[in-house]
Amino acid sequence: MVQTIVVASQKGGAGKTTLTSHLAVEAERQGVSPVAVIDTDPQAGLSGWFRVRQPDTPALVQVLPEGLKATLDKLAEGGVPLCIIDTPPAITESIASTVALADLVLIPARPSPNDLRAVGATVDIVEEAGRPMVFVVNQAVARSKIKSETIKALSQHGPLAPVEIHHRIDFATSMTDGRTAGELDLKSASAVEITELWTYIADRLARRKRYGIASR
Ligand SMILES: Nc1ncnc2c1ncn2[C@@H]1O[C@H](COP(=O)(O)OP(=O)(O)OP(=O)(O)O)[C@@H](O)[C@H]1O
Ligand SMILES: [Mg+2]
Repeated sequence: MVQTIVVASQKGGAGKTTLTSHLAVEAERQGVSPVAVIDTDPQAGLSGWFRVRQPDTPALVQVLPEGLKATLDKLAEGGVPLCIIDTPPAITESIASTVALADLVLIPARPSPNDLRAVGATVDIVEEAGRPMVFVVNQAVARSKIKSETIKALSQHGPLAPVEIHHRIDFATSMTDGRTAGELDLKSASAVEITELWTYIADRLARRKRYGIASR
């Protein structure tokens, strides 16, 4: 069984690609191996990051012509325990079918009125597919009123990760040469947040596994 995280939000720039790369690297660092990532976005931001990356892990996997489900089945056969899928900022049939394959859908949202207004459309797709989901507040500004308002607004729609990812330049700069904030400095505040976020996600996935909830 390959546990599958789909990172989705209709809103462009919410942090899907940043979280996909950072969580994949962090999961491997914490001993999940090998971790696969899949880029289903035609803008190919994740693939671009991988292209300039020195290590060849996590593994960037191409979708087979037979489709995403067949690709995940192949990963499961190969003993890959975790796959994180980056998606385009859109509401399409293809996003819905990708979300349907998720053990957990991660929805990043910035503390902005625009992001909050857009979140309902993503949640609708996830609910339609009946998949578990969690919001992650991204690009938060510490102690800001809008951050607490965002947390309150999102919690009306569904569960929130207990850690917010703050706006910090190393999330962006680290990715320019194919790394992550944690690979620049494991003790940085950014790296610590990603560690906490992965620890929370890993726990949610482990509970599903423990209760024998089969994916897909
Ligand atoms: N926590 C953060 N702190 C600082 N910059 C961030 C953070 N998260 C994302 N960014 C930056 O914001 C921009 C958008 O992030 P990202 O590409 O991850 O979003 P996305 O949801 O994948 O966008 P798209 O919908 O276009 O695919 C990027 O330039 C990224 O470096
Ligand atoms: Mg992206």
